[in-house]
Amino acid sequence: MGRKLFLETVGCQMNVLDSELVVGSLRRLGYQIVDDPRDADLILFNTCSVRQHAEDKIYSALGTLRRHKQKRPKTIIGVIGCMAQKDQELIRKRAPHVDLICGPGQLARIPELLGEIERTGSPQIAVSLGRAEASRPEVTESFESYDPLREPSMRPNAFQAYVRTQFGCDKFCTYCIVPSVRGPEQCRHPQHILAEVRQLADQGCLEITLVGQTVNSYCFDHGDGRTTRLSDLLNLLHDVPGIRRIKFVTNFPRDMTDDLLDAVADLPKVCRYLHVPAQSGCNEVLKRMKRLYTVEYYRDMLARCRERIPGVAISSDFIVGFCGETEASFQRTCDLVAEAGFKNSFIFKYSPRPGTKADELYPDDVPEEVKRRRNNDLLAIQNRVSLREHRTWIGRTVEVLVEGPSKKFGHASDSSEFPQLTGRTDTDHIAVFDGPLSLIGRFVQLRIVDASAFTLFGEVSEPDPHHRSVLPQENGEESRTEARSARIPLPLV
Ligand code: SAH
Ligand code: SF4
Ligand code: F3S
Repeated sequence: MGRKLFLETVGCQMNVLDSELVVGSLRRLGYQIVDDPRDADLILFNTCSVRQHAEDKIYSALGTLRRHKQKRPKTIIGVIGCMAQKDQELIRKRAPHVDLICGPGQLARIPELLGEIERTGSPQIAVSLGRAEASRPEVTESFESYDPLREPSMRPNAFQAYVRTQFGCDKFCTYCIVPSVRGPEQCRHPQHILAEVRQLADQGCLEITLVGQTVNSYCFDHGDGRTTRLSDLLNLLHDVPGIRRIKFVTNFPRDMTDDLLDAVADLPKVCRYLHVPAQSGCNEVLKRMKRLYTVEYYRDMLARCRERIPGVAISSDFIVGFCGETEASFQRTCDLVAEAGFKNSFIFKYSPRPGTKADELYPDDVPEEVKRRRNNDLLAIQNRVSLREHRTWIGRTVEVLVEGPSKKFGHASDSSEFPQLTGRTDTDHIAVFDGPLSLIGRFVQLRIVDASAFTLFGEVSEPDPHHRSVLPQENGEESRTEARSARIPLPLV
């Protein structure tokens, strides 16, 4: 019998992708995924440090495993990802039963580290050198890519995949821990990205999402005077046969250049969807956040996106209750959300992160209940905007890629012989509709008949006539079941 792995992931798309790659490498060692940590020989938590809440969840999960480890001392418990990079000492202190601590730049070493644990019986720690302790090339080297180890069964769908364009971040927004845990920004060679996308297409992938902390800052320097920008990369990937949709997240407002917008407008496979976090609508707050733009710049940038890409959908992130955010500054954020026409916004309460500039320089002076109220108020405004925007789709026919059964509505709805399915438009709108499971992984035309703040409701008008089947036929059921059990419950914490 093979060994059993339980893996839980929190955090952003980077972590979701990393988990897929970790499973890819452990599968090669004969590990199988299980649903219940108590059945596992190896329990891994792929962690996030972006907000305190994400870390608390992991410590609480580790706490519940203390007794289990006493009863079954051979079980290996590992903390991997951003919190492992940031807090080795603290993890050892708060959870001494953890055997493996491995930062995001060292994940390729997990098989070797597991061997060491089994051989010596002692805990193993592998983290990258911090930005402060090492020269840039040293930090860069420790973040080596092992991206080709794709593992389709770890993804929600075999036909959709993330592809990394760069590691790390160089922006240093004052509230953010990411540059210190993920290291400096380093772009992957465009040919490596192209090879990976070809491989994914050969495995039946229809949609790729390029991921980078600031994906639109991508610029690979070939060292001979030539560079490849994100717009060039999109052109390159556009030619890969089999790939039908290309998305990219997340964008930094200052790097939303015209060549990129034109590439989105001109290349039919590139989705008309841009996630461009604003974080705040108040210039003083943006300055303290060191976001490098003003709200006027941001509004002009939005106008430029809409002018150059007709029909584009734009979404955003906001932090409420950042240090020194007054009612008047919060009101400016409300004004921006009320006017900007975002498809949706992710709203977070500010969480001070030790080691960041904001934590060092500014007191966390907005009380928790004020943060909560501002969060709710901003969400209410965004929901009104989303509903209004969604209602403009009623009566239109759109193409969606069918992703699976709708979670919220479960299986068979009363009025229909078919389960309710969910799909996405190229503008990233979620649409639900009744249809047979055989539509999953296919493009269908939907007529939109109703809308809520979160969802479009449609009726199938025509399945995609050019479809070639891409779902794995052999063991398809097994891998889908595994995908569910190992799946990452929280795409964004
Ligand atoms: N690189 C991306 C997002 C990184 S983290 C970008 O720059 O857009 C995802 C989101 O978490 C951020 O957009 C921000 O809104 C939020 N975030 C980051 N640090 C935070 C903190 N300390 N407290 C609360 N929210 C935070
Ligand atoms: Fe964090 Fe800013 Fe970098 Fe995004 S751009 S990861 S918010 S430092
Ligand atoms: Fe992502 Fe969280 Fe790390 S947002 S980069 S998993 S700190």
